[in-house]
Amino acid sequence: MTDKTYETVKIEREDGITFLIMNRPEKRNAMSPQLHFDMEDAMDHLALDEATKVLVITGAGPAFCAGQDLRLYFRGTENDPVMRHKAHEASDNWRWLKLTRFPKLTIAMVNGYCFGGGLTQMAACDLAIAAEDALFGASEINWGILPGGNVSWVMTQLMSHRDAMHYAITGDTWDGKRAVEIGAVNYCAPREKLREETIKLAKKMMEKNPMAVRFTKEAIRTVRTMSEVDARDYLAAKSAALILRDKEGGRQKGMSQFLDEKSFRPGLGAYARKPGESK
Ligand code: COA
Repeated sequence: MTDKTYETVKIEREDGITFLIMNRPEKRNAMSPQLHFDMEDAMDHLALDEATKVLVITGAGPAFCAGQDLRLYFRGTENDPVMRHKAHEASDNWRWLKLTRFPKLTIAMVNGYCFGGGLTQMAACDLAIAAEDALFGASEINWGILPGGNVSWVMTQLMSHRDAMHYAITGDTWDGKRAVEIGAVNYCAPREKLREETIKLAKKMMEKNPMAVRFTKEAIRTVRTMSEVDARDYLAAKSAALILRDKEGGRQKGMSQFLDEKSFRPGLGAYARKPGESK
């Protein structure tokens, strides 16, 4: 599949890993209406792209994303309700609905500033890795508003009540190391090693059964808000659906490699898969 070219978004590929890059570095990747339209279109294209095994969301230049573009997204649509509506829909769609439901594993590679609305797509990715010196913040309080969109909500999903309250009401920033401590990202790495570490993580995940990864990430998201009883029922149905959907028959393969061939230790890594056997 040939990649389209976009005004505000760039696609780079490396060994099955697709980097979807917010590309307005001179504006610190602040999100204009056009960026929302481009990201939404690119995500639709990549969701069905067989060459994309893992999707990495990141930013060009010194920023991951400086939030909504105050000039183009807010002021620029004040007198244009149609454009405001379209931009708002696209913004919600790609940053939350499409990212949280993306059929392959997603990783946020937080390469620098991540402010306000930029926290949403970081939180929506399945895993997140940040540069140690990346700077995060809910800066809204500094200009007299509250973290809207779904930013207040994603903060409470990512971190403790105390931390969400603290960072939202003070506007204090936190760096990549602190982001690991408070659970907002999984890992951090020195800036010069960030891409290498992200690729390592993506490749580790590409060894696993892709349908099992997809179903597991969906399950972990869904059970969060369920009662224990509902979760049991849902997980039983989800497990049965996974066996039906898994074309490579991972469960049977893993069983026979462990029990019959004795070639595999499930506690220590993935069962042996043939490259490309699952689509
Ligand atoms: N909306 C619109 N423009 C933005 C922007 C935003 N959210 N964030 C940065 N920019 C623009 C700046 O206005 C500047 O444009 P100019 O060159 O036309 O003057 C350009 O991006 C570079 O920004 P600058 O502030 O000079 O870069 P910096 O590296 O010194 O600082 C930030 C980077 C991210 C710390 C700073 O730009 C900032 O605080 N941005 C706002 C972050 C924010 O509050 N986001 C929440 C919005 S909901």
